[in-house]
Amino acid sequence: MITENRWLHILGVARKAKEFASKMRPDDEHYAEDMFLLGLLHDLGYEFAETGQDHALIGGKILKRSGYRYWQEVAGHGKPEAADMTDELFILNCADMSVRADGKNCTMSERLKDIASRYGIASPAYRKTVSEINRLLSDPRWAKLSS
Ligand SMILES: [Fe+2]
Repeated sequence: MITENRWLHILGVARKAKEFASKMRPDDEHYAEDMFLLGLLHDLGYEFAETGQDHALIGGKILKRSGYRYWQEVAGHGKPEAADMTDELFILNCADMSVRADGKNCTMSERLKDIASRYGIASPAYRKTVSEINRLLSDPRWAKLSS
């Protein structure tokens, strides 16, 4: 189920993805619009997922069936072990890690603290987020988005 807080998170991620898209491709207005839409769609799987873990895959499948261009990015978001990251998946993951569960903007380390307080530092969610954030921050594309 998509909760009201989740809606706020989704809208925050969409706006952050738009901002990051403008930094990645400053002269491409359509790209910013496309990344805003990707942010809006990225967590739709929560409406149908039994657990939080499979929401990305469920959302990706729905969007694939609908012919959506970036369905693979939705299916693959939040997975630090994924082999390669397209620019669009990179933007989405960075945006997702820069917006708290309540939709407020934050730094990635604040996001990590938020997850630690909600799930505990021994939780799989926390460990996954640590490796995801480490991967994003060590990617050369992060310098462009954070400038
Ligand atoms: Fe998600």
